[in-house]
Amino acid sequence: MDSPDSPTPARLLAHALRPGLDRLDAQLLLLHALGRPAQDRAWLVAHDTDALPATTQAAFDTCVQRRLDGEPVAYITGHKEFFGLDLQVDARVLVPRPDTETLVEWALFLLPRPADSSPPLPLGEGRGEGLPPTQILDLGTGSGAIALALKHSRPDVQVTAVDASAEALAVARANAQRLRLDVAFLQRSWFEGINKQFYLIVSNPPYIAAQDPHLDALKHEPLQALASGADGLDDIRRITTQARAHLHPGGWLLLEHGWDQAHAVRALLIGAGFEDVQSRPDLAGIERCSGGRAPQA
Ligand SMILES: C[S@@+](CC[C@H](N)C(=O)[O-])C[C@H]1O[C@@H](n2cnc3c(N)ncnc32)[C@H](O)[C@@H]1O
Repeated sequence: MDSPDSPTPARLLAHALRPGLDRLDAQLLLLHALGRPAQDRAWLVAHDTDALPATTQAAFDTCVQRRLDGEPVAYITGHKEFFGLDLQVDARVLVPRPDTETLVEWALFLLPRPADSSPPLPLGEGRGEGLPPTQILDLGTGSGAIALALKHSRPDVQVTAVDASAEALAVARANAQRLRLDVAFLQRSWFEGINKQFYLIVSNPPYIAAQDPHLDALKHEPLQALASGADGLDDIRRITTQARAHLHPGGWLLLEHGWDQAHAVRALLIGAGFEDVQSRPDLAGIERCSGGRAPQA
């Protein structure tokens, strides 16, 4: 029975909201402290006056303190949902962002239909008919988010994923194993030592300018996943100049980039000889992905 002093979900949440914690964050952290799944928010409402053990309060207080110190909720709970997949994440990898799902959706749209499925759509609709078996490369895979989402949605394609960070690759490999998704992971700096050609190359590379003040707010995330030279475009420059040699004729390169970089990235793609260069808006309507197609011949 609830006594006036015993911790209950309602009291713990009210206490956490006082210093300014976001309500959803507080609910996710309380569920984590309770050992319940993130989908159980209804449980908190249904049991909001239940007395909880003091150990839950202590665990929750620790989580709240970490969150107030700026640590992402996903690092504290160890989980992040991306494209319907439950990914395990920690400070070795960037927390996958919902905006990156735009890149995955665009990639899925461009993939040719599986050979045993309905006939391909007419040319001009963005599908790559008549191209060799579908091989995809994810550059800078981090937690494996993009590569695993693509493989989960299209088990028929072959996905290779690279990252320069051995620590990030350990996280990605563990996610692939847990989700039983067959992706080839390689430790590489971009295209270094990659001798194959792909139908589709996708990348969410680092793209924040090294002096951008927003980096200060991201102190818990790995810097090598975020910063990319004076204008944030160093890695995108490298990828756009090298990608064509690794694409089949007619294959696509799709890149995520910063909210104000679409124009610059389209110019880099055009400068590297890509055709059909275009951008796609994210969930907030901002052009955050750009891509182009390697010439047919
Ligand atoms: C912005 S994070 C993206 C992670 C993941 N793809 C996602 O969307 O959540 C960029 C990733 O690129 C990797 N990276 C940075 N420099 C690299 C390089 N030279 N070659 C390969 N990967 C690199 C980082 O380790 C990091 O995992």
